[in-house]
Amino acid sequence: MIRGKHIILGITGGIAAYKSAMLARLFIKAGAEVQVVMTPSAREFITPVTLSALTGKPVVSEFFTANTGEWHSHVDLGLWADAMVIAPATACTIGKMAHGVADNMLVTTYLSAKAPVFVAPAMDLDMMAHPSTRANLELLRSYGNHIIEPASGELASHLIGKGRMEEPENILRVLEDFFEKGETLRGKRALVTAGPTYEKIDPVRFIGNYSSGKMGYALAEELAERGAEVTLVSGPVTVSTTHPQVNVIKVESAREMLAEAEKAFPESDITVLTAAVADYAPAEVADRKIKREESEIPTIGLVKNPDIAATLGARKRPGQMIIGFALETDNEEAHALDKIRRKNLDAICLNSLRTPGAGFAVDTNLVTILTADGQKLPGELKSKREVAADIVDFITNSLS
Ligand code: CTP
Repeated sequence: MIRGKHIILGITGGIAAYKSAMLARLFIKAGAEVQVVMTPSAREFITPVTLSALTGKPVVSEFFTANTGEWHSHVDLGLWADAMVIAPATACTIGKMAHGVADNMLVTTYLSAKAPVFVAPAMDLDMMAHPSTRANLELLRSYGNHIIEPASGELASHLIGKGRMEEPENILRVLEDFFEKGETLRGKRALVTAGPTYEKIDPVRFIGNYSSGKMGYALAEELAERGAEVTLVSGPVTVSTTHPQVNVIKVESAREMLAEAEKAFPESDITVLTAAVADYAPAEVADRKIKREESEIPTIGLVKNPDIAATLGARKRPGQMIIGFALETDNEEAHALDKIRRKNLDAICLNSLRTPGAGFAVDTNLVTILTADGQKLPGELKSKREVAADIVDFITNSLS
């Protein structure tokens, strides 16, 4: 799976840098092309000569070669790569990556990279456990980077704990699994709706809800990572994605969301409807701000919004799959099964507001997948990204 892939191996200044030579060799043996980018301090731990000999390419560590003035383009490198692997990643480089401190070739290349990025931290256990390191790793994760968590064991300090860079064989396996996974939905198109809708009352007010869009964005990225071309129709949210295979279309109201979803639906093999669509919209939108002094307490008349899931469900052709979401507070399964039937869905991901850590705004979720043919697949409380992976596993299994 890794044969022919272009890999940037970023090496930073930590004791574990000696293992990077082995990692470079494993990538080369597996048939990849490897370009090493080192930070200046990495050169104190392992020589560029070793790495250029192993990879057959000169190591890049400065913005230009001093004696010839040859410029090393981090942009070109970023475009060349199919993956960037930073191993070992020190606390310092992780901090710079998280905050865009582009003072060396490795961090500028990272900021220019369009390809997936894998980060294998290596540091002392106290540094690893420090809230700032944890927060920086969380930031990197939220940007879509893959963190290859360090293992526990004896560290260079002779202390025992979590901080040892993952073994090169295991890093290779993570990359192989990633590329293999990336083929599962190749050639498929997916449509995802996400976030809340805002229904205008007047130019400064709206009816909305607490949906953060996190679950929908996580699903769109997971589908894209398995190779699908994704159209993500998103209500107003603060989350974002930079995945090149996710085309984000921003909308505000349920009607706008329906219009965009209807455009993408005929070509979509997989449709996942995570949006918390407002059920009602104001019957009239005031064209100027409703003033407190001018009237009695206003009454806002409401009209029904279109049901996007039911509209698409009614047009579903054989071979198309539609997955809905249901957030319930009571009688959860009965309500969810009723929605499968009413909206002609293939399955529904049920979460209950009664489950702590599930639902709106939080980073975790717990969903039970109920299918139209009567299966019930209970889930566990996990990060929304992991829940997204489970849902996409369900989708790929159902398609095969
Ligand atoms: N949905 C939709 N369009 C709507 C309402 C819901 O596409 N106007 C989708 C949601 O994205 C979700 C599923 O339908 O995938 C169920 O949403 P939910 O709000 O639970 O369903 P409702 O039909 O609105 O039912 P209720 O609010 O009565 O629970």
